[in-house]
Formats: sequence, C-alpha cells, structure tokens
Amino acid sequence: MSPHGFQSLAALVRRETAMVYEPGKEYLVEARLLPLATALGVDIDTYISRLGTDPTERRKALDALTINETSWFRDHSPYQAFTEEMLPAVLAARADRRRISIWSAACSSGQEAYSIAMLLDQHLPAGWTAEILATDVSTAMLTRVQNGRYSQVEMNRGMPATSLVKYFTRAGTDWEVVPRLRQMVRTRHLNLADPYLGLGTFDVVLLRNVLIYFDDVTKADILRRMSGHVAADGYLLLGASETTLGMPSDVASLWRREQLGRVQAHRPVLAAPQRSTYVPPSSTTAIGA
Ligand SMILES: C[S@@+](CC[C@H](N)C(=O)[O-])C[C@H]1O[C@@H](n2cnc3c(N)ncnc32)[C@H](O)[C@@H]1O
Repeated sequence: MSPHGFQSLAALVRRETAMVYEPGKEYLVEARLLPLATALGVDIDTYISRLGTDPTERRKALDALTINETSWFRDHSPYQAFTEEMLPAVLAARADRRRISIWSAACSSGQEAYSIAMLLDQHLPAGWTAEILATDVSTAMLTRVQNGRYSQVEMNRGMPATSLVKYFTRAGTDWEVVPRLRQMVRTRHLNLADPYLGLGTFDVVLLRNVLIYFDDVTKADILRRMSGHVAADGYLLLGASETTLGMPSDVASLWRREQLGRVQAHRPVLAAPQRSTYVPPSSTTAIGA
C-alpha cells in the first residue's frame, strides 16, 4: 500500500467513524482490506481509490476496519457493580414506572448487551420491563446482534457454563440466544461522533472500550453530548482505561466519579434537561435531542 493510499484511507475512516488510524498501522489496514481487494481482483491502492465512489464497498471496508474486540461479561467488575450497586438503586428509583433502560453504545457483536440482558433476566422483579438499546457504527456488527448467534470460540470467551445452558440453544456448530433475551435488545445504527437524535435518556449507559480509538476533541465532544442521555440519577460506565480525568473543564464538570466496588462509574452532575440544552462554547457538533 502506498503512503498516499494509507493517508486517504485513514482520512476516510476518520470522516466516517471518527476512528484514528495513525501511520504505523499500515500492516493492520492491509491485513483487513486485502481479502476485499482480492475478491474484486484489484490491488490495495486501486481498492482504496474505489472506496470514494462505491458506497457498498465503502461500507464493507469500514466494517472490516472497525475493531470489534469484545467478550461476555468483559472485565467482570462492571457487571458485578451493575448487579450489586446500580440495579438495586435503579429498582428503588423507578418503582413507580417499573421500567429500566440501558444503552450499550458501541455494542460490537452484542456480548455486552446480552450479558446485561442475562443479569436482568436473573435479577429484575416480575412486572418490570427492560429495554436495552445496542448501537454501533458497523452495520455488520448490528446484524450480528440481531442474529444473536455466536461461535464456540466466542462462547469460550467469558460465558459461564450455567448461562450457556440457560440462555442459548444449539444452531449447528454455533449457539443462539434464546428469544426472551433477544426481545429485550433492539439495535440502531449510530455513529457516536454524530448527533444523538431521538435517543432520550437511559438509566445506565455502557460506553466501553471505544473512546480509546478517538482523538481528544472527539472524546470530549462525545462525553459532553452523552451527558444529555444519562438520567439524573443514572450511570455511565467507561472502559477500564477510559476516564473523564484530564478532559477540558467544561466536560469534567458535567460528571462526578463514584466508586462502585472495583469500578468507577460516572454520574451526571446536573439534571438532564439542564444538560441536554447545554451548548459548550467550543463545540461545533450539534447537541443531540
Ligand atoms: C472494541 S469494541 C468494544 C465493544 C464493547 N463495548 C466492549 O467493551 O466489549 C469497539 C466498538 O466500537 C465501534 N465503533 C467504532 N467507532 C465508532 C463510532 N464512531 N460510533 C459508534 N461505534 C463505533 C466498533 O464498530 C466496535 O464494535
């Protein structure tokens, strides 16, 4: 791949997903795009120049370039904190309407959303409704969430044997999520760098292991706008290496950190209506509804 090919590919990925591909990642790009280029019988540079005019191939390339690493109950502690700290608090706070809403933002192939669905199946009292919204910029990943099918290798990554038996059925060599969990999860295509239109607020938002792929301006912008979508008494969970520490002061001041067991959750400082109408002076991105 030529330097120019890499540069124009990196610019495309950044424009479409906000993900930053720094020089030095040429080997990764080549490994992921070579099968697509080979299928069309062209070299990598020709393939990259084709992406500007071929939306179908562009979608395939972007799907191939997003990093979808995930696993069941990833890192364990956030799920323990969810069950032991967040869920009891939400159950007490929402006792009148008996509905809990969760957003798995950057859901990858759905392990995060379905891990939460399993915990809700076990711990939600009768008469409650659970809604889990799973969003991602990759349409291929959203299709995987909808299909709810996982290979044996994927199941081996964190799925407890008791939950495997309880929540999955065999589908050939794969495993399929049972309908009652799938009914809890709905999907929507969403680029976190775009406005969050019509999303409303959620009791718990999981925004895990995705901010690491963005530059500082994009991270700050997302955390600013995200604050309009976490209920006043709700929780935002970031990945283990992600934090609001070191963010511009207008962003850091929107969140307070709370230690829940071994996890630091982020909680809104202001009530949602105040936050969602807040327009940061330096942001050029529209604030989501
Ligand atoms: C490493 S996975 C993390 C999955 C899951 N949250 C977890 O922690 O296991 C990152 C996901 O972020 C998605 N992603 C990357 N850029 C995105 C963007 N701009 N908007 C929404 N999702 C994005 C990728 O498609 C990928 O599925």
